Amino acid sequence: MNKTKIKQAFVCGFPIAHSKSPIIHNYWLKQNNIAGSYEKIAVESENFNAFIIELQQNGFTGGNVTLPHKEAAFQQVQKLDEVAQKIGAVNTLWYENDILYGGNTDAYGFTANLDQYCEDWSKNADQKTAMVIGAGGACRAILYALLERGFSKIILANRTLKTAQKLADEFSDKILPINLEETSSHISSVDFLVNTTSLGMYEDDALPVDIKNIKSTAVVTDIVYTPLKTKLLKQAEAMNLKTIDGLGMLLHQAVPGFEKWFGVRPQVNQELRNLVLAELK
Ligand code: ATR
Repeated sequence: MNKTKIKQAFVCGFPIAHSKSPIIHNYWLKQNNIAGSYEKIAVESENFNAFIIELQQNGFTGGNVTLPHKEAAFQQVQKLDEVAQKIGAVNTLWYENDILYGGNTDAYGFTANLDQYCEDWSKNADQKTAMVIGAGGACRAILYALLERGFSKIILANRTLKTAQKLADEFSDKILPINLEETSSHISSVDFLVNTTSLGMYEDDALPVDIKNIKSTAVVTDIVYTPLKTKLLKQAEAMNLKTIDGLGMLLHQAVPGFEKWFGVRPQVNQELRNLVLAELK
């Protein structure tokens, strides 16, 4: 059993140097006067299982799991929460009665960010159409969140149609899988648009989708936060659409983990956002 008084948490992944999670959790530890720690740990894939087995004896109360271990963590925890079960990936670990639990807070982070900056984004969702660009790992949490909020239709556009089709089969018959090239013929019906691909991170990236015919009331968001204003968000802004950047998702997804490990539900405030923003520059 762990006899350490200070509660210790971590984020593990490979590579891990870029992770902003320590900034977030160390800010909250300080703000709430909690004697705890949160550190980055580089764990390569072949060492992940051993790392998990030794977690508790190494004094950890829990932590975050990031790429490439989210699916391995899903396989290895003793219990999964309902959300992780559905998403098929774990990003948060904690112990309850010495049992290792795995949860997924990405869907929560996504909706909490939108709720913070655009209260009405999912109002009357049962009459709204969402479009999701990309069908990779990151997209699963987004689909979960949109279905939870009750969107009547979700158009899932991907370069590889088959991947989108698989997700539609797995998640819901509300999802219409289409090819990226077909987005233009659907865009005029879209109330909510989210990019889950890495397109837009680099200057010479193509736009993931042409939005010139999107509804003037549409809300546009991107889960990429480097740069904060992706090409898609810039274009949406130029069209006077409501836009929300992806940084808030990173901040909000950290909330449930901190609460589980350190017993206090932390606040996402402007000071924290500025702190992380400064590190992105
Ligand atoms: P992750 O699993 O972390 O989300 P990923 O497996 O690289 O990352 O998938 C990211 C998504 O971005 C996928 O939907 C991918 O499309 P494919 O399924 O066709 O591979 C999409 N994507 C990545 N680069 C792209 C590009 N240059 N053009 C269009 N889509 C792209």
